Amino acid sequence: MNKSTEGPVYHLNLNREDIQGARIALIPGDPGRVPRIAKLVHSQAHEIAYNREFRTFICSFKNENILVTSTGIGGPSTSIVVEELAQLGIRSFIRVGTTGAIQENIEVGDVIISTASVRLDGTSVDYAPIEYPAVASHEITQALIEAVQSLGIRFHVGITASQATFYPGQERCDTYSGSVIPRIKGALEKWQSLKVLNYEMESATLFVTCSTLGLRAGCVTGVVSNLVKQTIIQKSGLELAEQRAIQVAVKTLDVLILPKFLS
Ligand code: URA
Repeated sequence: MNKSTEGPVYHLNLNREDIQGARIALIPGDPGRVPRIAKLVHSQAHEIAYNREFRTFICSFKNENILVTSTGIGGPSTSIVVEELAQLGIRSFIRVGTTGAIQENIEVGDVIISTASVRLDGTSVDYAPIEYPAVASHEITQALIEAVQSLGIRFHVGITASQATFYPGQERCDTYSGSVIPRIKGALEKWQSLKVLNYEMESATLFVTCSTLGLRAGCVTGVVSNLVKQTIIQKSGLELAEQRAIQVAVKTLDVLILPKFLS
């Protein structure tokens, strides 16, 4: 569905012409990370829109145009990005984000590739009933695994819990109230015992919106804290984790520009 003749899409403030035939988007949460990612893809990358939390750069990679668009935090704004970029022609999405690990063996600076997500996001139920699985595209996941292996970065592949909230949903008690409601108490331990690797806040929405709309999605995150060991987020760990997740996502473009991903 091409709505470009009716003007720009509402939130992203982009027209189909602006994205110059791009089919692939890298989607970090943070607008501040957008130029950093885009300039790693190509030094001539430039901004084409910035409205609210949605910032978009365009860059070229081996004769293909690639978008880098921020989603903001959480499901509602992530669903907006998928909806509006799909209308403009994007078919493959890679989330590049940060995460908190919930398994003992996962360290700050490691990278996690999500094969599927527990749907705690709240947003994805507007796309499909809760029984519908939130799964990544196997082709994009495979490309992410090949990329991380080629870079020699420590990584983990598995299931992610995708939460609606950063504080109570991830059982953080270092908050104003200092506690969480009974429904949530023990959730972290439960997901940990079910071999879930980590908490983040966008992948379930991304996977369900993309699967139900016939689009491809993958997710790579850098570990900024370990919620079991209660490591607090430090600047050095954050920078390392962000840098590694970005390197993996950008490296994946070598595979994603193959014709099968551009249709
Ligand atoms: N993002 C999350 O949702 N949780 C964390 O602990 C870190 C990043």
